[in-house]
Amino acid sequence: MQNENYNRYVWIGLIATLLLVIATGFAWLSESDRLAAASKQAQKSHLTHGRTLYVDNCSSCHGTRGEGGAGNVLNSKQLLTTASDEVLFATILAGRPNTTMPAWGQINGGPLTNEDIRGIVSFLRAWEPTAPEIVTAMQPSAVRGATLFAGSCAICHGDEGKGGSAPSLNNPTRLKNMNDDWYRQTIVNGRPAKGMPIWNSVLASNQVDDLIALIGAWRKGERVAPATTVANMLDSALFSVNQNDSADALFYLRKAKPLAFGPAAARFDPIISQIEKDQLKQALTDLGALRNNWPIGDEKNGQKVYKDACSGCHGSEGQGGVGRKLKPNEFIQKSTNAEVLRLLFAGRDGTAMRSFTGKLSEQQLADAIAFLRAWQK
Ligand code: HEC
Ligand code: HEC
Ligand code: HEC
Repeated sequence: MQNENYNRYVWIGLIATLLLVIATGFAWLSESDRLAAASKQAQKSHLTHGRTLYVDNCSSCHGTRGEGGAGNVLNSKQLLTTASDEVLFATILAGRPNTTMPAWGQINGGPLTNEDIRGIVSFLRAWEPTAPEIVTAMQPSAVRGATLFAGSCAICHGDEGKGGSAPSLNNPTRLKNMNDDWYRQTIVNGRPAKGMPIWNSVLASNQVDDLIALIGAWRKGERVAPATTVANMLDSALFSVNQNDSADALFYLRKAKPLAFGPAAARFDPIISQIEKDQLKQALTDLGALRNNWPIGDEKNGQKVYKDACSGCHGSEGQGGVGRKLKPNEFIQKSTNAEVLRLLFAGRDGTAMRSFTGKLSEQQLADAIAFLRAWQK
């Protein structure tokens, strides 16, 4: 009898517990809805706060909708998909030295707290889904201009624009009389009837900006050394062969050959003689292959270059640190030497991976690449 009674209580207890579980279950559910709504609300006010700060502090240079002005375009797919929140945060916090972009963080003497900056980052981030495909303008560079000039213009206008088959451009009187807009128009539209090509469809607008920066430097009487590399010349030669322009291709290959190094240097003469014999199809194949393998460096020398210039960020054993893990590394495995070299010369915008242009020679970078290749085996 007593047993039966107990059983009853057990059942009642069990059902009560079940009901409780169901009830709290619903409570939990509605609680998580409530939390989500609250966090959405918090995010919204975070964003509103960010918008107010942006309008007050940033829009004068970057435009009310991030369209740019004295400051870069910020409402751009290119920038927002490549720059992480951390990068945006760090840029706003610390500013950009030697530009008009100030440091905004209080720890850098600016007016904004970390919380304020996080609000601005959320505000910028909200543009991402609808951001237009604008390639953020790079600051024009006379050195890049000089490099482009050496690869595309010097063939007619002479080294440093001192004149050749086409008139001298580095000419003080002319430079004084004509302004940047005139030069821009002349370059973009060319004078096809007089043998000056139309560059409009060949050069990107930021490349024209670089040329205008070079012309500006010439106007001030400055000399600008091109950061010419064998890799650039091979690009120009390949472009010329593709256009069936043997004369130009030979010009670039003959210029590149004395600068070439390593085992690939032996591959220039055969290609030059193919072009001289008008075997352009074969030349195109061999030149294309050379372009993709270039440069072939020395693994042993590369070890020292790596230790001095790369290990601080990528780790002495390539294990990574501030920089990515390089032993092994998918980007290196998937890229040709030419592509890795391009990265080392250009750096990656918005990351600690800086450009090595002017800091390490093409040969030193080639050696570092050979060393990195050995790690991929
Ligand atoms: C006085 C003008 C000025 C103001 C005000 C200003 N900026 Fe800038 N900002 C610049 C310039 C110029 C650059 C480009 C610097 C360079 O050449 O690297 C820049 C760059 C940036 C970049 C990097 C963009 C890129 O493409 O890498 C970010 C992000 C940025 N600013 C955010 C802000 C925010 C947020 C504010 C307001 C808190 C702000 N800026 C206020 C002038 C300004
Ligand atoms: C195929 C040869 C050729 C190439 C390559 C060439 N130009 Fe020219 N360029 C000429 C000729 C020829 C003229 C003179 C046209 C005339 O007589 O009006 C000229 C004229 C000019 C002028 C006007 C000069 C003046 O004072 O009137 C500018 C500026 C110029 N070129 C810039 C460039 C730039 C920059 C490049 C490289 C992107 C370039 N050119 C590449 C042949 C060339
Ligand atoms: C100041 C730190 C720093 C130094 C010095 C540095 N790197 Fe980097 N490197 C980075 C960072 C950070 C990245 C990742 C960039 C990114 O987020 O895309 C990177 C990326 C790379 C990548 C691309 C890897 C990938 O997976 O996309 C290669 C290759 C590379 N570095 C090679 C080198 C070589 C070679 C040197 C020396 C000549 C060097 N780096 C020096 C910081 C550095």
